[in-house]
Amino acid sequence: MLMPDDAKKGSLWVNGKILPWEDATTHLIIHGLHYASCVFEGERAYNKKIFKSQQHTNRLFNSAKILGMKIPFAPVDIENAKTALMEKNNLTDAYIRAFAWRGGEEMGISAPATSINVAVGAWYWPAYFPKELRDNGISLGTSQWRKPAANTAPTQSKAAGLYMLGTMAKHAANEAGFHDALMLDYRGYVAESSGANLFIIKDGILKTPIPDCFLNGITRQTILEIAKDKNIPIEEKIILPNELYDADEVFLTGTAAEITAVGQIDEQHYTVGDVTKLLRSTYETLVRS
Ligand SMILES: Cc1ncc(COP(=O)(O)O)c(C=O)c1O
Repeated sequence: MLMPDDAKKGSLWVNGKILPWEDATTHLIIHGLHYASCVFEGERAYNKKIFKSQQHTNRLFNSAKILGMKIPFAPVDIENAKTALMEKNNLTDAYIRAFAWRGGEEMGISAPATSINVAVGAWYWPAYFPKELRDNGISLGTSQWRKPAANTAPTQSKAAGLYMLGTMAKHAANEAGFHDALMLDYRGYVAESSGANLFIIKDGILKTPIPDCFLNGITRQTILEIAKDKNIPIEEKIILPNELYDADEVFLTGTAAEITAVGQIDEQHYTVGDVTKLLRSTYETLVRS
């Protein structure tokens, strides 16, 4: 669950003002809701400090720019909003959701005169998957839904519309008894899970798909930096499904998922190996440092 019930006791930052949860509302007839003109960020704070906060803010602005939306605040305003909200909601470890969307001044596919609205939410949220699952590895089922090409959808934007696919893929995987979905791309190459990047380890080499039609996650980039520091050989490459089934270790990375071991993909089982454990413990130390 992404949002515990007690989050609703907190406040949100909306277009420059901090408002109680129940007052942070919007009209039903807005472009963002009907035409998916909405972008968002998912961030985590550890010990009162948001991990890579500036990078997340930069990505929010870039996601909006890709969708032709000009956020009417400066990046520093969003940085300050996140900090102020953490304080207001009295949070130490938190999940932060910053987002921007088109309002309802115009409805229709073309709506350039709509206002661009921005809000930030922040609440306590311990882990995406329960600890025992993260330790023993989650299961992934391959989805029938594929990641679209970069000229079919704005794949480098964290755009709400793209998550329609992730939700359908994850629902189908859950119904089939898996914890999450593995998504291939439009070419049949391995891409990522419904909401996190994917790594495999084979013969001591860390391998991960080239993010040319899905997000190059901030956690993914952090893991590549950690691996480089530890002299673990890295290959960013095309990964076909058969290479995945032959892997020694598999794990996911994402702000929400953090470093989550994968114990099963379809019928193939994996043990949680030493490289996954080393990268995970280094990441856990880094985010709290
Ligand atoms: C589809 C998808 N891929 C990958 C990621 C990982 O990105 P990050 O590590 O920046 O959180 C996320 C999370 O934002 C995501 O939603």
